[in-house]
Amino acid sequence: MAETRNHILSEIEDPGIALVTINHPDKLNALNLEVLEELEGLLNELKSDSSVRGVIITGGGGKAFVAGADIAELKSLDSKAGARLSKKGQNVFKLIEILPKPVVAAVNGFALGGGAELAMACHIRLASSKAVFGLPEVSLGLIPGYGGTQRLTQLVGRGIAMEMILSGRQVPADEAASAGLVNRVVSDEDLITEAKELLGKILANGPVAIKKAIRAVNEAGGGQGFEMESKLFGELCDTEDFKEGTAAFIEKRKPTFKGR
Ligand code: COA
Repeated sequence: MAETRNHILSEIEDPGIALVTINHPDKLNALNLEVLEELEGLLNELKSDSSVRGVIITGGGGKAFVAGADIAELKSLDSKAGARLSKKGQNVFKLIEILPKPVVAAVNGFALGGGAELAMACHIRLASSKAVFGLPEVSLGLIPGYGGTQRLTQLVGRGIAMEMILSGRQVPADEAASAGLVNRVVSDEDLITEAKELLGKILANGPVAIKKAIRAVNEAGGGQGFEMESKLFGELCDTEDFKEGTAAFIEKRKPTFKGR
């Protein structure tokens, strides 16, 4: 079965692996609201489709996994709409995290902002040697809003998470692997094959155990961090710095922040 949405391709291959490709490469697969909604619909279908046993998520076009939330769309947000969008992104990515079928991110290029957050919501991350990870939201006068402040901290610990989030520095695949942000790095040509092989091994195990293992691992952590993230993301949308940061990206210039 192959199904095409406007921005997402999905096909199901033996032995029940759904290959999901975020696919609007002209904008480096940036997550606008339409993409988020398509992803939400698709995840709900994959959840209830008993022929689907595992999922791979990757990016189309060969340059990016996903280069973040769509900055052109973010630009006009105010605090209310910002908090709402953050909650929406968190909720869609939560669907991935709690999917009772293993989800592997095959990160094949830029995974920035919402793209890194999408990868982090997956159960396992494989990166191609050309993958690059980063949370550059502060360069836009913003913070990660789709779970990144929480999941990065869980994956790599507070120190590295703090450095990546405060500096916005982009991290190459091998550094991401040594930090624990990705499970391992493979060659770009082998990325999807390796993801399928890994899922094949997982799917040979007891299906009920796999489902319950995902649930049990997801119980680690917790707390009110996601709530706080959305609230602060929304507050930042009302700042002059955020207007300046997003306008500067779109106008392809350096931002001048005033601290208000
Ligand atoms: N939102 C909206 N558009 C985006 C985007 C995003 N997150 N990331 C890339 N694009 C668009 C660019 O505006 C450009 O569009 P154009 O061709 O109409 O001008 C196109 O995708 C290609 O990107 P470009 O910046 O020209 O490619 P590059 O190779 O010079 O740089 C990146 C690649 C990923 C380093 C750069 O695009 C980038 O920094 N993107 C934003 C990352 C980010 O801040 N994400 C977090 C958002 S919260």
